[in-house]
This record gives sequence, C-alpha cells and structure tokens, in this order.
Amino acid sequence: MSNAKLSGEVYYPSKEILEKAHIKDWDELNEYATNNNEAFWEEKANELHWFEKWNKVLDDSDKPFYKWFVGGKTNIAYNCLDIHIKTSRRNKLALIWEGENGEGKTMSYFALHREACKFGNVLKSLGVKKGDRVTIYMGRIPEIVIAMLACARVGAIHSVVYGGFSVESLAERIEDSNSRVLIVSDGAYQRGKIVPLKQIADEALQRCGTVEHCVVVKRTGAEVNMEFGRDMWYNELMNLPQASRECSLEQMDAEDPLFILYTSGTTGKPKAILHTHGGYMVGTYTSLKYVFDIQEEDRYWCAADPGWITGHSYIVYGPLLTGTTSFMYEGAPNFPYPNRWWAMIEKYGINILYTAPTAIRGLMRFGESWVNRHDLSSLRLLGSVGEPINPEAWKWYHRVVGKEKCPIMDTWWQTETGMFMITPLPCVPLKPGSGTKPFPGIVMDVVDEKGKSVKANEEGYLVIKTPWPAMIRTVWKDPERYVQQYWSKYPGVYLTGDSVRRDEDGYYWIIGRVDDVIKVSGYRLGTAEIESALVSHSAVAEAAAIGLPHEVKGNAIYAYVILKAGAVKTNTLTEELRQHVSHEVGPIAKPEHIEIVDSLPKTRSGKIMRRVLKARALGQDPGNISTLEE
Ligand code: WT7
Repeated sequence: MSNAKLSGEVYYPSKEILEKAHIKDWDELNEYATNNNEAFWEEKANELHWFEKWNKVLDDSDKPFYKWFVGGKTNIAYNCLDIHIKTSRRNKLALIWEGENGEGKTMSYFALHREACKFGNVLKSLGVKKGDRVTIYMGRIPEIVIAMLACARVGAIHSVVYGGFSVESLAERIEDSNSRVLIVSDGAYQRGKIVPLKQIADEALQRCGTVEHCVVVKRTGAEVNMEFGRDMWYNELMNLPQASRECSLEQMDAEDPLFILYTSGTTGKPKAILHTHGGYMVGTYTSLKYVFDIQEEDRYWCAADPGWITGHSYIVYGPLLTGTTSFMYEGAPNFPYPNRWWAMIEKYGINILYTAPTAIRGLMRFGESWVNRHDLSSLRLLGSVGEPINPEAWKWYHRVVGKEKCPIMDTWWQTETGMFMITPLPCVPLKPGSGTKPFPGIVMDVVDEKGKSVKANEEGYLVIKTPWPAMIRTVWKDPERYVQQYWSKYPGVYLTGDSVRRDEDGYYWIIGRVDDVIKVSGYRLGTAEIESALVSHSAVAEAAAIGLPHEVKGNAIYAYVILKAGAVKTNTLTEELRQHVSHEVGPIAKPEHIEIVDSLPKTRSGKIMRRVLKARALGQDPGNISTLEE
C-alpha cells in the first residue's frame, strides 16, 4: 500500500514509525483478516485469558443477533487486572490522574485491582448480583474506573451516565435500566467551578423510584444532602470489614452483558446499547493495540470522558487490556490557561494523545505560542474521534502539536460498533480529513437508497456488511428497535446513519449524520431529547431543534418554539428556555439560539421538516418540499 500512488495530499509514515509499528503492511493484514475473519479474531481472542474456550467463534444462526465466542467463559475485568498482577506489570502504573485543581493520584495495576476488588465487595454487600444494573454518574476521577471494573468483576451491568447530563436525562436512564444502585460523586470540577452532581442526582431520584442505595464519592467537598437509609459515603463503605481485598469473580459467558450505554437515535428516547464481556473485550483490545500501536513503555492519554463509548473502550477497557499506562485529566482543556494540556503532556511524558476535533479547534484559537512553550517531544501518535476533522484543524494538530512526526489516527466508530471501524494504522498513508480505510477484516460499503454501491467519489450511505466482535448485541429491553434501526433499511446489512464519500483510492470521507442526530462538540444528541425538554416547559406548545455549522463545536443547536396560547413572550423567555434545556438534558444540549415562531414546517402527516428549517436558516434552497403541508 505504501508503494501505491495515491491521489490528493498524502502524508506517508516515517521510517521511525514503521520500525516501531506492530503492523507494517496494512494490505497483507487486511487480506488475511478479510479472507479468514473468524480465524483472525480467534487468534486475537487467544491472546486474552478464558476460563473456558469457545466452541464457535461466530454464531450467525439468528441474524442480526450475532453471537461471538459462543460457549467461552471469561471476565473482562480479569483480563484488565488479574492477569497483569501475576506478571512484571504488577507495579506498573495503570492510571495517572490529575485533578483540575492540580491534585494528582497514581494507581498501579496492583492498586487498581485491590480497589476494584474492595468495591466489588461493597456492591455485593448492597445486594448487587450478576445481571443487576448499576448506574454510575461521576466526573473524570479514578473512582469511575474502579466502579466500572467492580461491576464487571461481580457480573453487574454498568450504565454510566455522562456527568454533563442533567436531571431528566439521568432520571430516565436510571428508570429505563431499573438500577437499584447509583454511584455518584458529590460534584465535579469544571472550569474552576463545581458541577453539583449529587444535587442533580437527588432531583433525578425524586422522578424515578428504582434506586435503593446511593454511594457517594467525595471529590469536591461540596455540601451534599445525605438521605438516611439511602445514601452512603464511598470512603466509609470501603473501610468496612465487608470491603475485603479478596473478591470472588464471576466467570461470565462470552455473551453475558458487560454494560449498557445510552445514546441518541433518530426518534424518541435515548436507547441503551448493549455490549458483552467476550466480543467487546477482543475488539477493543485488538483495535487499540494496532491503531495506537501500544508499546510496553507507553503513556497513553485518551482525553474523552468515561461516560461516553470512547471512554468505555479507550480509557477504561482497551488500555487496561493492553496493560498500558493511561492518563486521565479531570477538567477543562483551557483551565486555568490554554496551555494546560500541553503542560501535562510535558510533565507526564505522554506518548499518545487521542482527542476530538472540537478540542483541537478550541485550542487552536488561542494560537500556537501556548503549545510551543512546552516540550512535546514525547508524543509519537495522535488521534481524533467524534466528528469529521476539517483539514485545517488536522494540519494544525499535525504541525503544531505533532511537530510533523506524529501520524494522526482519525478513528470513525460509534457507541454501537464498540471499537474503531474506519481508521488508519500507523503504517497507513494519511489524507487530512479522511479516516482512511476500514479496520482490517471489516467490510464496508457506500450505497444508494436502493442499497446499490455508488461510484467512487459519490456520496452515499455508509453500511457495514460483515459482523465484528465488539458490535452492539441489542437495544436493552427493545430487540425490535435494534432490528428496525440498524438492520431493516437493507436486510442483512448494518446501517450506520452516516453519509460518506469513498475516493478512488478507497479512502472514506465522512460527511455527517443523515438522521436526526446532532453532533455538538462531538457529543451525540437527538433532536427529540431537546424538543421534549422544551415542551416540558409550561410556556411551550411545540418545538423543533436543528444543528447548524459552528466553527468550534462542529454543530450548534438552534431551536424553534411555538408558545402555548396565553403564554407571554417576554425578553427573558428565550433565555429561560435555554436554561430549562440545560437543567433537564444538560449544558451540552443548551441551544445556541431559540427563536419563537408562529408555525413550523410540517408534512401532511404532521412530521416536522427539520430539513426545511435548516435550509431556511442557512439561506439555502430547501429542495423537494412537495410533502409540505402548507
Ligand atoms: C457518530 C457516532 C465513537 C466515538 C465517539 C462518537 C460521528 C465519530 C468520527 C470520525 C467523522 C465521526 C459519526 C458517528 N463520528 N467518529 N472520526 N469522523 N465522524 O460515538 O456518540 O456513538 O457517535 O459520531 O457521525 O455515526 P457516538
């Protein structure tokens, strides 16, 4: 592949990068993994520990409910921790953490294992059993990792809710998952302020009735209400004799659920995507090892939040499975100054930085002198995820942060895919703005409305044609929605919801979502969530939300509302509505702008035509409006 002549602007891997890389020839690996897919994944699975081996790698007898490593018994937490403490990695750092306020903490594999075992026993003492759901709502602190691993250890299904979500989002996720236990921190530091997570949780708990025990981690010392009989301090529980260091581990079937994670879809409420112990483990381990080329001595930093799939797969599980040292930072990238990230890269000698285009664009605005103050020579590889990266940001990242020696792994994937799906490996020549090609062995296509492959450089729907180990297994409690959403437009083929162009070299260029999902700063939100928050306000009769291009955030939310008869349009009303969305869904969902209107464009069957609103806002031609009611 490196010999082929590629079109456009191409960045070839250097000799140093190639020498170090686990995989030196993408074509060779891809050919093998495509033609021997089950054998390929089986070999990767064999690098991990199983209490019992599988009797079938892939069971596709009940499509699209694929099963991987059927009959195998393992536990992802065992592979993240127990296997390492039996080796020379025992005292290696698993986690380096820095708080926004400058506090720091490190944990070796030994220490992380000890804490996860202790907390596993705490969970057991609260009656948590295999298959029970546990909701986790915290900032970026080590305890979130401990809590996730403790759940996995005892066979509980964790449901992490991102700390940037607020009351209603949390309440509906707790309720839908039927969690009896909630683990929360008193608050989280963000830009020098405290986000009152426990207070938000208290309000959410008034709206849902399932939680019996709430474990509170002290992080900020913020004053919190502790409800007698329900709320308990994490530290106190960890000091009780029940929290012993020996915690028996559940041997899980490969297909037993590991976690659910809520994400936004086309319509209605967020859906819980279900991942399993076996296939997810094999997929995240293999993809991280090859894409970020994990080496024994690396210090790796994924700057995402554990509350999203990026954090699940590539802060928690992937890094621990590969036995690397992961760095985690609690706060905002520009706090107290715009050099915070660069200072930490220098201080800890970070080798791999994985972040989102929005963060890069945000830091770019402050100018390169903030970066240039620091020695970033430890960096070897960079990564990008969450939304398309514009070539300008790519080049800045490459030149200013990576000093033109660090290849950028632009990884396309989804909550549903569990692992990287379109991504370079370090040996792959790069084109700024393209995620290059599918991960070896993954077969994708670009198709038209009828499912026919489109020609090179034509836009089409991105679909995945073969199953992969870390794939979504179902939508929690709603298998029909799983089939309907992902497998029904083109039977037998997985629909991603993205539109894409594939160039003459087979490189993929993601264009964006084709459904009602809006990517704001890389965060995935549904128009339905924002709209239902708006209509839950007493003054609002109807609402429509759309995403419009934004220089830093990628997209920003614009909302249009029709007021109820009798509601008074005051100067402060739109601001009040913005605050209301922030309080109900979370600050990330707060509309940039709200406009009060008299009517909304609808189809004759009453569906809001967001496409028309978007065209109007952008001053573009709305296209075919023959179905418009009026
Ligand atoms: C959607 C999935 C999986 C990590 C974080 C997002 C968009 C994701 C890229 C990329 C262009 C990207 C897609 C996708 N997306 N990565 N490298 N280039 N677009 O997970 O919240 O489930 O969102 O994010 O539109 O469908 P998610």
